[in-house]
Parts: sequence; structure tokens; C-alpha cells
Amino acid sequence: MGKYIVEGQARLQGELRVQGSKNAALPILAATLLTPHSVVHNCPNLSDIGAASNILEYLGCRCSLEEGTMTVDTAGCCRDDIPDNLMREMRSSIVFLGAIIARCARARISMPGGCELGPRPIDMHLSGLKKLGVSIRDDYGYLDCRAEHGLHGAKISLPFPSVGATENIMIAASVARGDTEIHNAAREPEIYDLAAFLCACGGKVQIDSSGTVYVSGVEQLQSCEHTVIPDRIVAATWLSCAAITGSRLHLYDVEPQHLTACIPMFEEAGCELRAGESTLDIVSPRRLLPLRMVRTMPYPGFPTDAQAPFMAMCALSSGTSVFVENIFENRYKHAGELCRMGANIKVEGRVAVVQGVPLLHGAKVECTDLRGGASLVVAALAAQGDSEISEIRHVERGYEDLEGNLRSLGAKIKKVEKSGDIC
Ligand code: EPZ
Repeated sequence: MGKYIVEGQARLQGELRVQGSKNAALPILAATLLTPHSVVHNCPNLSDIGAASNILEYLGCRCSLEEGTMTVDTAGCCRDDIPDNLMREMRSSIVFLGAIIARCARARISMPGGCELGPRPIDMHLSGLKKLGVSIRDDYGYLDCRAEHGLHGAKISLPFPSVGATENIMIAASVARGDTEIHNAAREPEIYDLAAFLCACGGKVQIDSSGTVYVSGVEQLQSCEHTVIPDRIVAATWLSCAAITGSRLHLYDVEPQHLTACIPMFEEAGCELRAGESTLDIVSPRRLLPLRMVRTMPYPGFPTDAQAPFMAMCALSSGTSVFVENIFENRYKHAGELCRMGANIKVEGRVAVVQGVPLLHGAKVECTDLRGGASLVVAALAAQGDSEISEIRHVERGYEDLEGNLRSLGAKIKKVEKSGDIC
């Protein structure tokens, strides 16, 4: 349980490598359950990845993460349940459901609760799995799922392009009898990366130009090796750090294509960006311009996960920015913390109006969730004076060595453990 101490008004410079994507690695680790042995490169070292390994090990698999490569051996897999404590450790543990059912024809998991972002129902996951032949019984807070006659293909149309539901159905359908179609599926780059992993294991997955996913089930997936895509949200966060501090930054091992909704926003704020082959450079103005309207949408729209870091940026802009959060009900908790630093933000339901101020000041603030926590670090880098950011366990779920990366760019940030020891 630590905190960051950030000395503000930093000017950053230099280059950063972008880590592998948390949200691509997690469903891929779930899918490894369907292979004898998998080697996953560019796997970030994060507490959420640790939580996924804990689940795999609980199920009887052997996992090891060394220098960004995760190896998973499933020979010892002998369980088909996930206990409550492991489910609660990470909201997206639900993505293991399809894989466990596909491997064991049965799964028993505790009902995942809501999270900091509001209610997180799983109705689309369950109705999709039911169409693949799964019977589901609610057993006092546990979901008891069975595929007595095995899984079979189906035509599924999602009411909303849910990322997690698309992934769960894709994984289960990859070894079901027959063909599956997922209409109105999610189109995030992480979906394409999961499809690439399943194909590398001998699966048959195609995605057409409308984003419809086609899966032809195979008997068994094979051992394979795969490299996870870069983390587009981490890249957007580093760019926000550069933009708010008026800095120049070079990112490498990044996929600019995955940031097509973010790059024009940085340009609207007055930044210059140059994309190269897996590189991205940003040059930022002394003062940012406001963003007329930031609407979060499913991909390829503006990512909800980048909303908070962008809000921190707009807090110091020269005008009024408007945010509309269309994906999650309750994703503005960071706004109150940013106001402690002198920001002027009014929230009304899913709309937030950010009136840019000339100066933010250091303060004691608390992370409320992963991306909200990142936005406090973004603001603290530009604020006058020192900030103390607590509950950083949220941030460590998604950012590998955040303080080390920022320090390498010249930021004055240190992590202090509860004991007062500096890390
Ligand atoms: C994934 O969450 C990401 N997590 C989230 O990133 C991201 O914010 C989200 O997609 C949207 O892009 C991972 O990939 C691990 P959804 P997921 O299912 O799969 C509703 C981060 O910061 N819904 O697309 O849970 C749901 O409540 C995290 O890295 C249902 O109603 O998102 C939400 O309002 C946070 N019923 C919306 O759809 C369902 O069965 C989008 O959820 C499923 C979802």
C-alpha cells in the first residue's frame, strides 16, 4: 500500500517504450487454458496479470513470467471453479468463464460484483454462452455452468459491442462443434489480438470489415507462441503527461493505428504528433487548447479508458472542454480529486464540463480506480508544488513501473511504501 510523491511543474524529455497491453494479455491468458502449452511475449508485469496467473495456478496450471514472457503449461489443470477471493481480485476474471467451460464442460464461479466504475452486469456473457449450449444456474451467489452435451456453434447478436462478452464467446466457440457468428461484436484491437492468438493455436477465427466475428470450432487448440500488442491506453497516458507539461516525447514499440481516436484530440489541443513505424512523437505547446467535445464510444470511437488522463490535460487548457461518458455509468470519480488540485470541473450524470484554469496546485489526493489514478499523476506533473497520491494499487494494476518510466524522462516522482520506505 504505497503512495506517489510528485514534485510538479516538470518538463519531460526523452523516449519511452510502450508496454504490452493489459487488456489484450488478460483474455489471451484465459485462452491458454485451451492449449497444452503457451508462450506469450510482451506480457506486462502488472498486478492484474498476477491475478490472472493466480487463477491459472489455482486451476492447476504452471505459469512463469520472465522478462516480459509468460509461459503457461496446462497439463496439471484439474479444477473447474474460481473461488470468490480470486474473482474479487480482478473484475475481468469473468473472461475465464468461457475457457473453463470449454476445457472442463463445467465451471463454477462466484458472481463478479460491480467495481469502481459502477454496475458491471454480465448478462451478455451469459446469454452468449447459453446460445453455445451452456446451462447456467444461479447457486446462492455462485454461477454453476454446464455444457453436458458439449459446446456447439451459434449465431449471436450482442445488444452492445461488449469487449468481455465478445472475448468469452470467441474463446468458447473456438473449440465448439460447428460455426459461430458474433454480430455487433466489439472491435477493439484487443479483440483482433485474441483472434490472432487463437489462430496461432490452430483455431479458425475471422473478423470481417463490419467487425462481425466468425469462428469455426476445432477439436483442440495446439501449443503456440504469441506476442501481445502494445498498450494503447498506456501510450495515450504518456502522451497526456507530455501534453500537460508542454514537453516533447518519443514513444517506441507503439501502434499509432490503435490511437486514431486520440491523436486528433491531441492535435485539437495544440500538440503536433508524428507517427512512424511503431513510433510516435509529440511536441506540446506551452498552454493547451480546450477540447470542444470528448464522447467516449466503443472502438474505433474515443476510448473510455483515456477519458480520465484527457480530463486532467483539459483542466489546464485555455478554455472549456465537454466530456460525455457513454460506456460506464460512474466514471468521473477522479473529477473530485482533480478539483482538490484546483481544477474547475462540473459533473452532471454522464456529462462533465471542464473549465480550464491557469494553474493547478499540489495536494493530497486518492486514486479511485485505475485510469482515474493515472489522471492524478498527469495533473500532479504539471501542478505547482508537491502532490501526495495515495491508493496507488489501482494504478499498478495497469501501468508497469510508472514512477521509473516518468523518472527516466526527468519527472520528480517517488513511490513511498506505507512504512515510509522509498521504492
Ligand atoms: C473492457 O472491460 C476493458 N477491460 C475496460 O478497461 C474497458 O473500459 C472496457 O472494455 C470498454 O472499453 C478489459 O479489457 C480487461 P464491456 P469490459 O463488456 O469487457 C456493459 C481498464 O481501465 N455490459 O465492453 O468489462 C458494461 O456494464 C478497463 O483497463 C453489460 O451491460 O467492458 C459497460 O457499461 C476498465 N452487460 C459496457 O457494457 C454485459 O454482459 C461496456 O462493457 C457486458 C457489458
